[in-house]
Amino acid sequence: MAHGQPPPLPTPYFQLPASILSTPPIPFCTLLRMSIKQTDAEIFELLRAEEQRQQEGLTLIPSENHTSREVLEALSSVFSDKYAEGYPGRRYYAGNDIADRLESLVQERAKALFGVPYANVQPYSGSPANFAVLLALLEPGDPFMGLDLLHGGHLTHGWKANATSRLWKSIPYHVDANGRIDLAEVEAMTLAEKPKLIWCGGTALPRAIPFSDFSRIADTVGAYLVADISHISGLIAGGAHESPVSHVHAVTTTTHKTLRGPRGAMILATEKGIKKDPELPQKIDKTIIPGLQGGPHLNTIAALGVALKEASTPAFAEYAARVVENARTLADALVESGFTLVSGGTDNHLLLLDLTPGGSGRGVLFHEALERIGIYTNKNTVPNDPSSPFYPSGLRIGTPAVTTRGMSATDMKHIASFIAQVGEHLKNVSIPPDAAERKSALAAFRETLATDPFYDTLRADVRSLCLRYPIPGAA
Ligand SMILES: Cc1ncc(COP(=O)(O)O)c(C=O)c1O
Repeated sequence: MAHGQPPPLPTPYFQLPASILSTPPIPFCTLLRMSIKQTDAEIFELLRAEEQRQQEGLTLIPSENHTSREVLEALSSVFSDKYAEGYPGRRYYAGNDIADRLESLVQERAKALFGVPYANVQPYSGSPANFAVLLALLEPGDPFMGLDLLHGGHLTHGWKANATSRLWKSIPYHVDANGRIDLAEVEAMTLAEKPKLIWCGGTALPRAIPFSDFSRIADTVGAYLVADISHISGLIAGGAHESPVSHVHAVTTTTHKTLRGPRGAMILATEKGIKKDPELPQKIDKTIIPGLQGGPHLNTIAALGVALKEASTPAFAEYAARVVENARTLADALVESGFTLVSGGTDNHLLLLDLTPGGSGRGVLFHEALERIGIYTNKNTVPNDPSSPFYPSGLRIGTPAVTTRGMSATDMKHIASFIAQVGEHLKNVSIPPDAAERKSALAAFRETLATDPFYDTLRADVRSLCLRYPIPGAA
């Protein structure tokens, strides 16, 4: 390939029809990327293509969102170039007086927004934040409890293949037949196993977390109670979900989901936590650095500061309320179309479709067919899934990103109708449990995805809905 020529994009398993490809794209935000366009055509082309994918598709993955232009500006700032190992006033490198002001300001914003006395804004992401909490509060081999990954928990809450279950004794709890946390099981296990720490929170939990019940149970054995609010921190900040702060000792959260900031994480300690363990802030600080990480990503911290300021505005509270309202409207419309939802509905930003009534393992069919029409969701296990985690029977859907774009109830009904039409079209497609049969069934299914004009029509409809709601970072 000639130097400077953009490479062809990776070929997906289907090709969009020429009619759609030739439609002029929404104008792109080239401001931030203008120089890249001149100096690195290959990366520029990928930036442009990803922007187009996001603009012309619907992000319904509950852990994703669209950040503001201002968050993106701070992320791509010169703070990216600075090393600042340590904490404000205690750095290992020179030239950090401005970094100190930045990190202190962002800590203060986090403390004010969530109503806590301590915040560490340095974790690189949610997984290291959770790992740091375990390292700070437990001795190797100590028992801890978390929601089973297959029932909606996160890998770092003690999944068998995760380091957290190799270094400590992980005791998973579950949801009950109604898709709610099985508090009777949590209580019985807590009394029997005497965990040192209990996680509450999850990654595919459509219902409010019963923080006060967890608190009562954890207190019976003196366990630390830590809320992982990664998914719901934006809803909590915006007043659309109960805050765990008065019930738990510490909180972890990613910053890029409903909170709508850059990819990163925070660890917060509460009054209750510091009362239980006055050394809690120092333990967490020391575990992040020198215990686990090196230099903080100051550009991410700057962008987090921007996001935290945005999250303290009335407009953000309106967004948070609308996220939940949209999720409920979408849930109701899908139930009306005949879909089954784990727990029957949602209290937050996400819904989990249980596709087992049509056969097991069908999450992959919906995931790929919806992707074909520009709707991005993710296949997910449902509690007690009869199929394997790689071919699960559920689909996880969330409303944060489409709400950020400005969509409301009418659009949710529209989206539900796209999903229902795809569901109807897939009615007679199944995923055989036998591996060899499954392979050929999937190959045939993907062939149909590429050639069936049904998908072209829906792709065009999805695209025209998207054109009405540009993503904010590129508007
Ligand atoms: C509840 C929860 N905790 C932690 C994480 C980990 O975050 P990250 O992917 O940033 O490591 C996630 C990510 O999806 C999550 O859902």
